[in-house]
Amino acid sequence: MKCVKVPLKQLNDTRIKLMENGQMNMEYRIKTEEGFGYIPINEDVTGYEIANMELEPMKKVPHNFSELLEDELSHDEIDTLRTSFDTIGDIVILEIPENLEDKKQIIGDAAHKFTKRRSIYMKKSAIKGTTRVRDLEFLSGIDDSVTIHKEHGARLKLDVREVYFSPRLATERKRVMESVKEGERILDMFCGIGPFPIVIARNKNVDITAVDINESAIRYLDENISLNKLKGSITTYCGDVREVSKGFKTKFDRIIMNLPGLAYTFLDVAVDLIEDGGTINYYEFSDSYEQGIKRLTDACLQAGKKVEIINCRKVKSTSPGEWHVAIDGKILYNL
Ligand SMILES: C[S@@+](CC[C@H](N)C(=O)[O-])C[C@H]1O[C@@H](n2cnc3c(N)ncnc32)[C@H](O)[C@@H]1O
Repeated sequence: MKCVKVPLKQLNDTRIKLMENGQMNMEYRIKTEEGFGYIPINEDVTGYEIANMELEPMKKVPHNFSELLEDELSHDEIDTLRTSFDTIGDIVILEIPENLEDKKQIIGDAAHKFTKRRSIYMKKSAIKGTTRVRDLEFLSGIDDSVTIHKEHGARLKLDVREVYFSPRLATERKRVMESVKEGERILDMFCGIGPFPIVIARNKNVDITAVDINESAIRYLDENISLNKLKGSITTYCGDVREVSKGFKTKFDRIIMNLPGLAYTFLDVAVDLIEDGGTINYYEFSDSYEQGIKRLTDACLQAGKKVEIINCRKVKSTSPGEWHVAIDGKILYNL
């Protein structure tokens, strides 16, 4: 290895000068021997004594997820994996494509090392069934699927194996929270562990009724109510909202319908329970807004009401060309 040889007392100044000029070879360690220092160089440099010396290579410390995996996977494969990370509290959930399944352990260990999160899981199925939960396989760290996720200052406790939760809806929840007025009576028809109710009730003095069919989700929501300092109040119900809501004595100023695959089948319930001038925050999976607007309009017509569309937006992409869309409609009683 070509080196600059300098007396030890000049070592530090020379090292700094060579580094600043980009001439030092950073992949090898500097050596000192018998009153001299040997600094590895990339190219010939003038004004110094040049020597040949065996130097120890620097231990390569990977700085990121790509560097941890660059010997195993192509750059494209690493990029695809990187966009699949979902971080929920201490837990990372990865989507590993079928062609990389045989490398799942290496990928899981790299994700554990890189993210420093407690537990790494991989998706084993799509989100499915009435409770919208997916199968997960433990990959690395500690196999503990309960965690507390922080979102806009809220603490949300959940078990990723038992309930639905997506950190990718954080911006949407903040947006809805900001549009809520003090004193609103709100119904969250499909509340899960309660991210909408908790984020809203932390910030606004409102009265929220939260319903979910998944017992585990309601158990966590009850815990989340105690974990957070709330300005508003939240009352929970476990069951099918179509049945549970038959017992409700009041109408609501806002109804949140985040069950995007099936919310349209509950529009009759929502339109019946909404107050005159109230808002329905309706969600569905679609390639456009037209279908959702038509469903909302038709449900209102059926009930002798009308809808004024306030806002439409894409919440997140679900597959190429398809979106989780949000449609906000103001419901008016007189046609
Ligand atoms: C997509 S998740 C949304 C959960 C929550 N709003 C959130 O943003 O995290 C839909 C939720 O609807 C619940 N659900 C499905 N069918 C239901 C029904 N008929 N009545 C009440 N809840 C239902 C599921 O258990 C699930 O927790």
